[in-house]
Amino acid sequence: MSMSAYRSRIAGTGSFLPENLITNKYLETLVDTNDEWIQERTGIKWRHKVKEGQYTSDLAYEASIQALQEAQIKASDLDMILFATVSPDQVMPNTACVLQSKLKAGDCMALDISAACSGFVYALAIADQFIKTGPMKNILVVGAEVLTPYVNYKDRDTCILFGDGAGAAVVTRAQDDQDSIIYSHHLHADGEISDLFVLPAGGSKVPFSQKVLDEEMQYVKMKGREIFKHAVRTMSKCCKEALEYNGFTPDQVDWVIPHQANVRIIKAVAYHFGISMEKVVVEIEEMGNTSAATVIIALDKAIKDGRIKRGQNILLTAFGAGITSGSLLMKY
Ligand code: UT7
Repeated sequence: MSMSAYRSRIAGTGSFLPENLITNKYLETLVDTNDEWIQERTGIKWRHKVKEGQYTSDLAYEASIQALQEAQIKASDLDMILFATVSPDQVMPNTACVLQSKLKAGDCMALDISAACSGFVYALAIADQFIKTGPMKNILVVGAEVLTPYVNYKDRDTCILFGDGAGAAVVTRAQDDQDSIIYSHHLHADGEISDLFVLPAGGSKVPFSQKVLDEEMQYVKMKGREIFKHAVRTMSKCCKEALEYNGFTPDQVDWVIPHQANVRIIKAVAYHFGISMEKVVVEIEEMGNTSAATVIIALDKAIKDGRIKRGQNILLTAFGAGITSGSLLMKY
């Protein structure tokens, strides 16, 4: 199937969720909602929130240290850092460079990937290409977000969903005796429906001003129901595309790891894709939607608790603002 010179392999993973919790009970004190509704309609019990002075790069650092240790790779051996995020420490410099410095990685390529909730899958696909074609051996792929500053805690549609968190994977060139492989990745985008989920201010279109604060344009704006429908349709399609391309049937997939935005989206994707929920990794209950970080956090947790084992076929799929989407099928 693969004509490439090399294969890539996830050699180590890590994840980190900050200590502070935003519980459903706490949200009841802020907006007209309740614990039962949130759990039933989203599957979320709580989300995590950074403490004062803790930034996206700090969460990423904790996850990256774990991933590097597990992979037995020194930060100085990294050829590239790919940092998937829509909540960088600052617009400039990119957060990959900030992380490079915190890890003392030394000279390497360092780049942020902005694809919202699909960010980690996009970044992992890019890492695979750089390894497959030969120029690089060790790549750190991060998905990390601090979304809480962009959430309006007066808007019950969004404040119940989002939280902070980070995950990281060290992707390396596989040795001859290791049979891990990334079989395929299929990435998509549809800018025609970009208005479904936006953060209006902070870019060149709406630079910061008093007007931004007065009109609360510093917060995310989401058409929840519309996104829900597109998420189900798109991730189901992405899963089928991955299998068709590789000539796989759903029963050859050991685990599906979808973007964790809403447990009802995940269940609907499993139903349309034709796979039992027993083969789907669901980690949304205790973290909410952490955008680019959800897929790698869920992957890391399932590896750490023994659900995912070497040699198993893992299908990642994601969907996010843009609208971006994609899948990645691998033998772990
Ligand atoms: O990473 C991608 C980003 N975003 C997403 O993936 C989000 C996708 N969308 C969703 O997860 C869901 O659409 C929401 C969780 C945002 C909303 O759930 P829903 O089941 O689609 O609710 P709805 O908007 O259809 O509203 C149903 C009812 C409405 O009341 P009425 O009109 O039936 O009386 C809402 O006003 O639920 C009400 N409602 C709430 N009630 C209590 C909406 N939000 C809340 C709330 N608490 N937080």
